[in-house]
Amino acid sequence: MRFGLVLTLCLYVAALTGSALAATPRIVGGQEATAADWGFVAALETKHGSSFCGGAVVAPQWVLTAGHCRLYSASAVQVVAGATDLAAPNRQVLMVDRQLRHPLYRQPVKGAPRADLMLVHLTSATTAPVIPIATGTKAPAVGTLLHVAGWGSTAYSSRDDTYGPGVTLLRQTAVRVSPADTCATAYGTKAFATAAMFCAALPDKDACAGDSGGPLVSGAGASGILVGVVSWGTGCALNDYPGVYSLAAHNRCWIESTIGLPGAPDVALATDDGSLVVNWESSKPCVEATDPTGFRIRIAETGHQIDVGGTVRRLDLAGLVNGAPLTVLVSALNINGEGPAASKTATPGPNLVTAVEAVWSAYRQVTTTFVLAPHATDVQWRIEGGSDLKFKAAPWQVAPAASEPTIISFARSGVPRGRQLEFRIATFDGAITSTTERIELSVATPPVAIRRPHLRGTAAVGTTLHCDLGHWSGTRPFVVVRQWLRDDQALADQTAATFVPRTVDAGRTVACRVTISGPGGIVRRTTSGLVIAS
Ligand code: ARG
Repeated sequence: MRFGLVLTLCLYVAALTGSALAATPRIVGGQEATAADWGFVAALETKHGSSFCGGAVVAPQWVLTAGHCRLYSASAVQVVAGATDLAAPNRQVLMVDRQLRHPLYRQPVKGAPRADLMLVHLTSATTAPVIPIATGTKAPAVGTLLHVAGWGSTAYSSRDDTYGPGVTLLRQTAVRVSPADTCATAYGTKAFATAAMFCAALPDKDACAGDSGGPLVSGAGASGILVGVVSWGTGCALNDYPGVYSLAAHNRCWIESTIGLPGAPDVALATDDGSLVVNWESSKPCVEATDPTGFRIRIAETGHQIDVGGTVRRLDLAGLVNGAPLTVLVSALNINGEGPAASKTATPGPNLVTAVEAVWSAYRQVTTTFVLAPHATDVQWRIEGGSDLKFKAAPWQVAPAASEPTIISFARSGVPRGRQLEFRIATFDGAITSTTERIELSVATPPVAIRRPHLRGTAAVGTTLHCDLGHWSGTRPFVVVRQWLRDDQALADQTAATFVPRTVDAGRTVACRVTISGPGGIVRRTTSGLVIAS
């Protein structure tokens, strides 16, 4: 099973081999590897326990491997971490929930993948040790001695281009960094094309099919440093074809930004009346850096916490307690957790009170509405109404300390008709006297009949007459009163919408007088009269 998988995986490599060499099977390189030296090693397996790629534990929940090792969905893959013997009964098997390829990964072109790296996220932390990633950006000096390990083929036959079976016990070999031109000559500059790859080889020693994704390290054991990741090559251990590795150091920014916590964002705060506008930029250490999945915004003083998505860069916080400085903390979130927060402090401008509206609520009656922002102490308020800057104050009232906005509605009657009024609110909470909010009342227009009131029905004793109001324009609300008239005289108690003439009404003229009272004035209209038939 293992052999079959490995073979298909490296078919593109096999296809490259033009000339068949002697059928001497060559070994990857010799020795069994010890757990003491390779504690950070990991194997990618199918759920049947068939290993198909190597890897290295770079954080308790992250394994670095090759991009071309994404052969199955995350749920179909398991990781054995920290074990050299894949059959050991006590080996640690971990589940995978994410396989993140390097953003620049490209499928193999002429056998050569680009940015051939992938980070595999484990659903739980491994106890296996973590290997640090080499610093700098370049490959180690030509000739540097490194070691590679894996469970891949121990033999390759160039005669029939076949790979031997993989192993259950981890094997390792030494290799030396090759000159870049040797590699470019061997594979061509189209295949071996970037500063993010390098080659390593030693006679008869090499990584082979199934070793992909495995670690190439300098030093050993606790002092081991991850230098490369097994990527590709023609055959295995062929004299003219050194093994090709992804250069770990070159990709350190992508690796660290993916396996670590996001950095503190850059935060800017702008204040407005009772509000704070928070703007931030995510700190991106490099273009390939993995973006945060979200941001968390907190107000230290109020305990407010808001989580937003990874594409959001601005938040407007309104209705805040004013007059006191507020500290806003912004942190970025990713799969690993919450990064450090950046904080900025600012004081929103005073806006204890906000005017909402002043409307005519009835004839000579006005209702004004204000909203008091949440306030920590009792707030005194009073409405002042008037015109031409001459305001008459209503008595002070107390709004108890509240964590929610308080709505203040104040209805005032007896407002003289036709006068343009203004209302304002003054507040006092011990420390702050708010700027007075002022709202103006709209000019009220008088009622005007668009269709005049009229009577409906037959003018006969015992038959119902209806007093239709017609249609009116003008500032609402209207208060409507009907009065039935007989020969122009008001009939006591006859103010309903309907009237039924009696014998006493026969031969007399009946009409309905309609009075419409609106904020803009009072208008009376009488319908044309009807003579009641007996
Ligand atoms: N592509 C192979 C794999 O998927 C690894 C190739 C390494 N070959 C070499 N000659 N170093 O396992």
